Amino acid sequence: MASETSPYTLPLQGKVAIVTGSSRGIGASIAFELARRGAKVTIVYTSPKSETLANDVVFKIASLGNGSQAITVQADLGQVDAGEKIVAATLQAFGDSIDILVNNAGVLFDRSIHDTTAEDYAAIFDVNVRGPLLMTKAVAPRLKAPGRVINVSSVGARCGFEKLAIYSSSKAALEGLTRGLAAELGGDGTTVNAVAPGPTESDMLEDVPKDIVEIQLKMTPVQHRYGAADDIAQVVAWLAGEESRWISGQTISASGGYAML
Ligand SMILES: NC(=O)c1ccc[n+]([C@@H]2O[C@H](COP(=O)([O-])OP(=O)(O)OC[C@H]3O[C@@H](n4cnc5c(N)ncnc54)[C@H](OP(=O)(O)O)[C@@H]3O)[C@@H](O)[C@H]2O)c1
Repeated sequence: MASETSPYTLPLQGKVAIVTGSSRGIGASIAFELARRGAKVTIVYTSPKSETLANDVVFKIASLGNGSQAITVQADLGQVDAGEKIVAATLQAFGDSIDILVNNAGVLFDRSIHDTTAEDYAAIFDVNVRGPLLMTKAVAPRLKAPGRVINVSSVGARCGFEKLAIYSSSKAALEGLTRGLAAELGGDGTTVNAVAPGPTESDMLEDVPKDIVEIQLKMTPVQHRYGAADDIAQVVAWLAGEESRWISGQTISASGGYAML
């Protein structure tokens, strides 16, 4: 029988993880699942009103009583210095290296091309693409080999939906970034992958046009349901572990079969 501290019960024990956008939704579930597997986690959020939610995630992690811990950092990933701030807080709390980076924070943009400005484009790409790029750049010098970088994309990266061109193209760019960084960082065993959720219960899902979500549900072979945040967290946590060591540069569709890549 496995002991409390065996690699089977706590496979991420001793690991340090950063999860962006982990005050709520998919990111909160990812942070909790990494902690449930033993990791120490930095919870990143941006809105002042999410401070309580972020603290709730820390409390839930502390309640696990398995040696994992969490801290919160408020940072806007649309700002170029956010990555440095998050890394500094993580090192101060947890030691001199980082094992796992989950670039989960993202913003939806639902507007036709006629109503889209250059400023809109920059704002979305700054968070959804430049954010993960600069976050990875800030973590890379402290990433302990073999590191794990996991980017949260979307099935939208490979679909064409009205009014979602900017969002979809930002996620397509994130998948390209995933492949490029996988090639660049793999020498020491580090892997870089993306997980692409289908429609998943969260605040963001409320803002996706209902006609699109209905089509997606009909086309989801597994139970014709929305994903739960934990459905995505399980895939991310597996990629964060040792068993996924031979997978890199991939995008895994976590969508109940909606998108068969
Ligand atoms: N839900 C879906 O159906 C679905 C489907 C496909 C892909 N995804 C992707 O999955 C990821 C998580 O989505 P979700 O549904 O959980 O979203 P959500 O419920 O809207 O939560 C978004 C999270 O990102 C954070 N965030 C947003 N902008 C940020 C910024 N500029 N700087 C730092 N943090 C920021 C938010 O922080 P605050 O709480 O402080 O605002 C929050 O923690 C996103 O990348 C999204 O594109 C979601």
